[in-house]
Amino acid sequence: MKCLWAIVKAVLRPVRDAWRRWCAAKVFRYDARRFFSVSGYGRPQAREQQLANVILHYHVIEKGLTMPNRRDVFGREALKELLGSINQYVTCFGLDDTQVTHAIGVVKTYVERNANQPGDPILDEAKDFLGNYPDVPSVEEPHLTREAFYRGCEGPFPEFARARHTLRHYAPKELTIERLRSAVELCRTTPTACNRQYCRVYCVSDKETIEKILEIQHGNRGFGHLASKLLVLVSDLEGIASPLERDDGFTNGGLFLMNLCYALYYHKIAHCILNWSRTPEEDLAARRLIPIKPSETIVAVLTCGETPDEVEMCASPRRPLEDIFKVI
Ligand SMILES: Cc1cc2nc3c(=O)[nH]c(=O)nc-3n(C[C@H](O)[C@H](O)[C@H](O)COP(=O)(O)O)c2cc1C
Repeated sequence: MKCLWAIVKAVLRPVRDAWRRWCAAKVFRYDARRFFSVSGYGRPQAREQQLANVILHYHVIEKGLTMPNRRDVFGREALKELLGSINQYVTCFGLDDTQVTHAIGVVKTYVERNANQPGDPILDEAKDFLGNYPDVPSVEEPHLTREAFYRGCEGPFPEFARARHTLRHYAPKELTIERLRSAVELCRTTPTACNRQYCRVYCVSDKETIEKILEIQHGNRGFGHLASKLLVLVSDLEGIASPLERDDGFTNGGLFLMNLCYALYYHKIAHCILNWSRTPEEDLAARRLIPIKPSETIVAVLTCGETPDEVEMCASPRRPLEDIFKVI
């Protein structure tokens, strides 16, 4: 009887596997169809895509304005792209969004900060552009002492949450593993689906490895090299049991990431999340550098360091509440 059951199971296994693959393919096809039909990929004219384009480009300039050791008239190409994206948005939709007003303010700040470079063609172009928006004020990028930056640390949650910010300035001293351990320990409080706790944090201290990973990442120019440690946050797919949970690695990873930022801020560790929107080849290259399991998916990496005595940070204004809270 046992033997017969083993034969039945052996015969049914390929059928069961084929069924599983079909179920998984169905949900992935659904995702792919939705992605192609409604995302901004391939729909550059969509309003949200145009707005995202403006935000992305102003963020590059805004970041540059706060960078340690920034050059005069940095990011000419990025500024050109920003002017183009604002012009295109305003032509299509008018000046109807606070993010676009902020983008114009960033251009104004850039021009003011480079007032000592007269005759530069990109600055002339930016000045002509600003002539259309005489009433838009320039943007104040907060410049704070270390003490002021961490003032919200011990405050009640609304104060704490509003005070936390990304820092791209790191002091030239070693951040100890012990300090990072205390921050990651706090992240054990992160809620997870069915308490399955998929996330792991790998801490990279070897300078050469940090440099190589940052080279693959791209989005850390001007500050990544100053980081003392790099954290690599991963989600383990091995705990995921169904194609319906295909995004769980990222939803759980995202919660962990936010908690990690709060924990790092609480421990007064300067940090910046870096996206892991990498090609398969780049992802594989990073896997050769760090001993993560094949089943672990990189959610994001973070540059970390001790905080210098003074810091500059991006204003990074948020969308108004009425844009994001919809009562239906
Ligand atoms: C998923 C994610 C990816 C990010 N990637 C980068 C990055 O590659 N480079 C960078 O300088 N900042 C990156 N950031 C930091 C954001 O620019 C920053 O969080 C945002 O502007 C809001 O500013 P705040 O953190 O000070 O509130 C990333 C943030 C998140 C949440």
